[in-house]
Amino acid sequence: MDKLFIPILLGTTRPKRESFKAAKLIEKIGRSIDTIEVQLVDPGDYNFPFDGNDPENKDPRYSALTQRADGFFIVTPEYNHSFPGTLKRMLDSELRNYVHKPVAFAGVSNGIFGGARAIESLVHTVREMGMVVTFSDVYFPQIQNTFDEKGELLDQGYIKRIERAYAELIWMAKALKYGRDNLGGPYHS
Ligand SMILES: Cc1cc2nc3c(=O)[nH]c(=O)nc-3n(C[C@H](O)[C@H](O)[C@H](O)COP(=O)(O)O)c2cc1C
Repeated sequence: MDKLFIPILLGTTRPKRESFKAAKLIEKIGRSIDTIEVQLVDPGDYNFPFDGNDPENKDPRYSALTQRADGFFIVTPEYNHSFPGTLKRMLDSELRNYVHKPVAFAGVSNGIFGGARAIESLVHTVREMGMVVTFSDVYFPQIQNTFDEKGELLDQGYIKRIERAYAELIWMAKALKYGRDNLGGPYHS
């Protein structure tokens, strides 16, 4: 079986974003799993000039990677008890490419809730896009205390938590890929 392709979507372009460290860790652990290929997607490297999914708001590289994706790992900081507008704009730029694909979440905050409210508010959005949510979220509370000044992880417990999230995402990705490839229906020819 080919490797499953899992883009890791980072939710913010904020210049001093701490969530980048969480996304890099998730990318690193993803690279150690030999059944998947991961790619960190930094919205700052893509171009979504408008809201919506009109052709003018599509970045062909994002279109291609979402089409190829077998699942997604979204890493979102919490901004005012929700997820950043950048993430919404990026997600909104596509439609059919998400249907019947699973998504895992990591939330990031400098407070104690680890982005839980950002994840909760994302569930409604990704459901409308046809994605299937996993239930092993990874929470990064107090992200400013999670890595040292060299960017090294201070609490090794995150590794197991991230591996658990991947394990469920991979299970779902396999099941849904089987469905997309074999069960037909209006979204998969
Ligand atoms: C516009 C904005 C709103 C924020 N709102 C919240 C919030 O509602 N809850 C929270 O725990 N942290 C909030 N924070 C702090 C983030 O948790 C903090 O920036 C953290 O480092 C993760 O985001 P980052 O990747 O931007 O660094 C907010 C930060 C910004 C920039």
